[in-house]
Amino acid sequence: MIVLGIESSCDETGIALYSADQGLLAHQLHSQADMHAVYGGVVPELASRDHVRRVLPLIDATLAEAGITRADVDGIAYTRGPGLAGALLVGASVASSLGWALERPVLGVHHMEAHLLAPMLEPEPPAFPFLALLVSGGHTLLVLVAGIGRYRILGESLDDAAGEAFDKTAKLLGLPYPGGPQLERLAAEGDPDRFRFPRPMTDRPGFDFSFSGLKTAVVNTVRNADEDDETRAAIARGFQDAVVDTFAIKMRRALEHTGAGHVVVAGGVGANQALRDRLREIAEDNGARVAYPRLAFCTDNGAMIAYTGYCRLSAGEQDSGRVDVRPRWPMDEMKPPGE
Ligand code: KG4
Ligand code: ZN
Repeated sequence: MIVLGIESSCDETGIALYSADQGLLAHQLHSQADMHAVYGGVVPELASRDHVRRVLPLIDATLAEAGITRADVDGIAYTRGPGLAGALLVGASVASSLGWALERPVLGVHHMEAHLLAPMLEPEPPAFPFLALLVSGGHTLLVLVAGIGRYRILGESLDDAAGEAFDKTAKLLGLPYPGGPQLERLAAEGDPDRFRFPRPMTDRPGFDFSFSGLKTAVVNTVRNADEDDETRAAIARGFQDAVVDTFAIKMRRALEHTGAGHVVVAGGVGANQALRDRLREIAEDNGARVAYPRLAFCTDNGAMIAYTGYCRLSAGEQDSGRVDVRPRWPMDEMKPPGE
């Protein structure tokens, strides 16, 4: 079985082909980041239009990379949600049209489930049950994964998502969009001892997060601090250390609570090297191992959609033929494949 995956939930068009026998055959990505950078964030209407322009040529390029044709595709998966409605509709329409024309099953998949399963594409995938920290531009979830579609959400952010906090802090420091990776680069040069920001909610039991207080602390510091590069780098470092520490404290607690043997970090913020290194230490201290997706599969991509689609299409799931998207789609609605 070969599944074509189409990702178009936000500002990247991602296409991939996953084969049951051979694994990932090919993947291609077009990022719109430069287009949105001048506006300081994603402009939804521009995102939809660019997906329209890119999606078919990118599908052709991915088929060519794999050395196969459309007729070789056995099923089509696309991101049904969560995400931007217009952007999602582009992927959904193209997937449904192709499915109809080729007479192949089509399935809309959950973007966050796909992020969660991204480490399954690596040579040493995690074993169930594992703990996953899902940290993207819109989500911050700590999940106990008992199997595909069997997710227990232990904690989530009560306000800003982790990626949002990175992006807003980056903006305050005058860094261009998307801020996360830029902030990480700046933080690497910063003095770790100059600014200490709060580790929100770590003194309370449980696994929830909150980043709005941290953001306010950074705003106040930026307002009162000098504007030289050294100070900006030290603020970036102080912010990143606070976020990484907060996740580390909750992850340690979750490992003790669940006894899980593997730790996964996924979603765009999962590309942050300081976070990856720190969680590895925490996991190893608790006798667990990490299973991370490669950096390119932390941020949005088609490979995770093709793989998730494969898991569910191969269990007999498919759409009814109607084009529908779920801009908001709570993860606890997920069920095991085929149920
Ligand atoms: O998963 P993703 O590509 O898209 C969503 O589904 O939201 O995540 C994007 C988020 C952005 O907020 C971006 O700034 C953040 O991930 N991000 C990072 C890094 N790379 C991307 N944050 C911190 N450090 C990074 N290296
Ligand atoms: Zn994402």
